[in-house]
Amino acid sequence: MKERFMAKRSLLVGFGGFLPDRVVSNAELAERLETSDEWIRTRTGITRRHLVGPNDTAASMGAEAARRALEYAKLTAEDIDAVFVATATPDQAFPATAVRIQAALGMKQGFGFDIAAACSGFIFALSTADAFIRSGQIRNALVIGSEVYSRIMDWEDRATCVLFGDGAGAVVLSGSDNPDDRGILSTHLHSDGTAGDLLYVDGAVGQPDKSGHLKMSGRDVFRHAVGKLSSAVDEALEDEGLSYADVDWLVPHQANIRIIEGVAKKLNLPSERVVITVDRHANTSAASVPLALDEAVRDGRIQKGDLVLMEALGGGLTWGSALVRI
Ligand code: UT7
Repeated sequence: MKERFMAKRSLLVGFGGFLPDRVVSNAELAERLETSDEWIRTRTGITRRHLVGPNDTAASMGAEAARRALEYAKLTAEDIDAVFVATATPDQAFPATAVRIQAALGMKQGFGFDIAAACSGFIFALSTADAFIRSGQIRNALVIGSEVYSRIMDWEDRATCVLFGDGAGAVVLSGSDNPDDRGILSTHLHSDGTAGDLLYVDGAVGQPDKSGHLKMSGRDVFRHAVGKLSSAVDEALEDEGLSYADVDWLVPHQANIRIIEGVAKKLNLPSERVVITVDRHANTSAASVPLALDEAVRDGRIQKGDLVLMEALGGGLTWGSALVRI
C-alpha cells in the first residue's frame, strides 16, 4: 500500500498576481455616469480599477497569476497535485475554470475544481486546499482567485459599477511536517443564505431570461460586513489562544476602505499594518485577498514568520477568516 505523506501544516510558499492593462479612473467613469471622483473616493476609498480587455478571462488571468506564484515558489506545474479556483465569473458553466487553468499550465496530473463563495471565495478555497493537504490526499496545491466582474456589471447602475475591478491572485500551498508554527493555523468559514438577496447576480445559465447583472443593497451589506468580520477576526484569534497584539498584518477583502478601517480599529492595528489595495484595484472579489497578499510579500512588508490575518465577506452571505504564519 502506498504510504501517504501526512502534513502537519500547509505552508504558503508562492505568491502571484495579475491585473489587466486597462486602468479606468473615477473621472473616466464620471464622464458617462452621474457620479464623481469625490463621491467614489470618500464613500469607498477607490480611485481607479483595472478592467479586462476582450481576450482576458478568469482562466487566462488565473493561469498568469498561477505561473507567477509557481515561479516565486521555485516549483513547476508538474509539482502541483490540485488546483482550487475561487470565482463567481467563470469562463463557462463547465469545464471548471480550474480545469482550464490546469490545461493552460500544461498539467495532466492531479485535479481541479471551482469554488463559488463570491468575495469570500479565496478564504473558502484556501480552507479547502488546506484540508486536502492535511488529510494526506495532496501535497502541493494552487489556490487562485480570479474574477471579471466588469462582465456582470450593469454599467448604467452607478451604485454598483463604480465599486468593482478585474484581476487574479494565486498562492502555492505546500504540505510540511516541520513542527514549527508556520503555515495555515486555522480557517473559519460561514454562510447564511437567508441574507442571499442582499448581494447576488440576477441570472445564470439555468435562468436564461434574467439579466446576469450584480445587484446589491449596499447599506445592508455594509452593516453585515462590519459586525460579521469583527466576529470572524475574534473567533480566529480566540481559537489559537492569540490576541490582537499578536497580529502583524491584516490582509482584508478590499471592498471598502471604511469597512477595512472598522475592522483594523477593532484589532487596534495601526494603518501601517493593514494591506490596502482597494484604492488602486477597487473590489476584485475573490481575487482581492491574494492580490493584496502578493503585493505585500513582494514589496517586503510581509516577512517570513509574520502572523497574517485574512478576512472576507461577500454574496451568500458568505464570510470567513484565515490565520497564517508566513
Ligand atoms: O465585496 C462584497 C461586499 N460588498 C461590500 O462590502 C459593499 C458594502 N457597501 C458599501 O461599501 C457601501 O454601502 C457603498 C459604497 C456601496 C455605498 O455607500 P453608502 O454610504 O452606503 O451610500 P448609499 O448606498 O446609502 O447611497 C447614498 C447616496 C444615495 O443617494 P440618496 O438616496 O441619498 O439621494 C445614492 O443614490 O449616494 C447615491 N449614490 C451615488 N452618488 C454618486 C450611489 N452611488 C453613487 C455614485 N455616485 N456612484
